[in-house]
Amino acid sequence: MSVRLKRPEEIEKMRVAGRLAAQVLKMIEPHVVPGVTTDELNTICHDYMVNVQNTIPAPLNYKGFPKSICTSVNQQVCHGIPGKQKLKDGDIVNIDITVIKDGYHGDTSKMFLVGKPKPEVKRLVKVAQEALYVGISKIRPGLRLGDIGHAIQRHAESHRYSVVREFCGHGIGQDFHEEPQVLHYGKPDTGLVLEPGLVFTIEPMINLGKRHVKILSDGWTAVTKDKSLSAQWEHTILVTEDGFEILTLREDETIDKERITIAG
Ligand code: MF3
Ligand code: CO
Ligand code: CO
Repeated sequence: MSVRLKRPEEIEKMRVAGRLAAQVLKMIEPHVVPGVTTDELNTICHDYMVNVQNTIPAPLNYKGFPKSICTSVNQQVCHGIPGKQKLKDGDIVNIDITVIKDGYHGDTSKMFLVGKPKPEVKRLVKVAQEALYVGISKIRPGLRLGDIGHAIQRHAESHRYSVVREFCGHGIGQDFHEEPQVLHYGKPDTGLVLEPGLVFTIEPMINLGKRHVKILSDGWTAVTKDKSLSAQWEHTILVTEDGFEILTLREDETIDKERITIAG
């Protein structure tokens, strides 16, 4: 396996790319309201990236993906293609942004509540975010990838949700998807040992029902087989000498570790 650690000057560029990706999620927030189509959200993000940020939307034409962002609504797990679908009150939608700036990628996604979803829907969204945070919070040199996957899986399953297995986090840098693969399930004390300079994403997909997914005939959109709701959150993370740095942290985002209750 060839995992390349980033040099300091590369890390500085990844900080910039990560911050810009986070800013797109902040920018789009007021537009995610009942009645808007996912294609309208795509257009707003595309124009902001290209004209305001001078970034390149990485998804556009990536392996044939036709749009600049991914929008995954309700039972859609990931890689939803923006289109004519209008968001409606009570929906949940993941918006996944990847920008390229100065040759380096920043990749992040979050869930948006459209109008007022039911409490059990909001709970899924919250636990999925906590699953990302429990995966991040222990990161430091010496930790192993299996420890991260295990922590995420344990958190999700303790709430009787399931973890999607078909998609994983990934190393990131000059390429969109680099090694290593970062699984969101696993066994403690297994897998790659983390070192300072490693940059990768964590992006757990958590289902209200069973974990199984299928791909729609568009060749991209992953949905839950049992049509249950799915939620995903993603950050790009740097392993530092003494812990981690979230390169895609949003300005108003605070990780309240005290409020995350982990089973066992
Ligand atoms: N941003 C997604 C990820 O987190 C990948 C999207 S690939 C695309 O890895 F082609 F669908 F855009
Ligand atoms: Co990613
Ligand atoms: Co992404």
